[in-house]
Amino acid sequence: MDERKIVFSGVQPSGALTIGNYIGAIKNWIDLQDEYNCFYCVVDLHAITVPQEPKNLRKNTLDLLALYLASGVDPEKATVFIQSHVSAHTELTWVLNTISYMGQLNRMTQFKEKAQRNEANLNAGLFTYPVLMASDILLYQTDLVPVGEDQKQHLELARDLAERFNNKYSDTFKVPDPLIKTVGAKIMSLQNPESKMSKSDADDNGYILLLDKPDAIERKIKRAVTDSIGEVRYRDEQPGIKNLMNIYSIFSGESVEHLEKKYEGEGYGKFKGDLADVVVEGLRPLQEKYDYYMKNKDYLETIYKEGAENAERVARKTLRKVYKKVGFIPRG
Ligand code: AMP
Ligand code: TRP
Repeated sequence: MDERKIVFSGVQPSGALTIGNYIGAIKNWIDLQDEYNCFYCVVDLHAITVPQEPKNLRKNTLDLLALYLASGVDPEKATVFIQSHVSAHTELTWVLNTISYMGQLNRMTQFKEKAQRNEANLNAGLFTYPVLMASDILLYQTDLVPVGEDQKQHLELARDLAERFNNKYSDTFKVPDPLIKTVGAKIMSLQNPESKMSKSDADDNGYILLLDKPDAIERKIKRAVTDSIGEVRYRDEQPGIKNLMNIYSIFSGESVEHLEKKYEGEGYGKFKGDLADVVVEGLRPLQEKYDYYMKNKDYLETIYKEGAENAERVARKTLRKVYKKVGFIPRG
């Protein structure tokens, strides 16, 4: 028996990833895979709650899988799979829908925001999105869910649904805990250090993509908004520099205190030049691995097939229990 605790997380295949996604989400997964039994999923079912071009969805799904591996997710250690390959996710969603309260789903901040942005396509999938997310998590009897701050409310719902089901029938689901890092949980926009770095930013100088070329990275860092103080110091009055120092520290492993000393008496020009080098060099191995995987689609296929088989085995076991408890007759 595998006694390790279980970790589940996923990212939507909705286009290019920023270094914010990487630092806030995927990078943390790597540290967990040695100690925990990890399931890392490309959540394509979630992606179709907003309009998708089928061709792009296919590309983005494989892209994201390649980025998982290029970031250091190791399929020998973790189960890597595509959500739509394991039908138990949608099956459990149906059952959990029947114990989800409309009122609670209506209060989900992300739904309210998306509903405002997607008025022309205000579909039921957008509304039950968090129930599908709860199914993802609960199917694997997950202990820990590493996510960014913005997913906390969805995690709360997953816990509520687990407890509600357990109380109504009998103990079935493990009640999961969120794992939210405090450092790096929020990388800010390079153009507006008051708001989160996001690929939906209208100004592409605001974000660095994992697959940005060196000259783009240099240009974006050079143009990053700072202040007129002119000192490399880690403090709230200098939010632009603070954010750049966070990025520097995460990519180089040097502490922010160390960076303050290193750049004492130096202007922002030198600091930004070095930061660009650190980010370019930090992303280089990832980008090379990404290119390698994208040229080896057969390998990617082996990984997602094996991943789905493994995930399916675990997920089916939970779903069988659920079906039995609600009173469905087993087909035999
Ligand atoms: P999204 O692409 O917004 O669905 O986010 C995917 C994952 O990346 C989630 O776990 C987010 O919390 C995380 N994330 C997105 N943007 C940032 C950011 N600027 N800083 C840190 N984490 C982020
Ligand atoms: N909703 C999450 C996001 O937008 C993605 C997600 C789907 C997820 N299912 C999950 C995250 C299960 C953690 C666990 O980032």
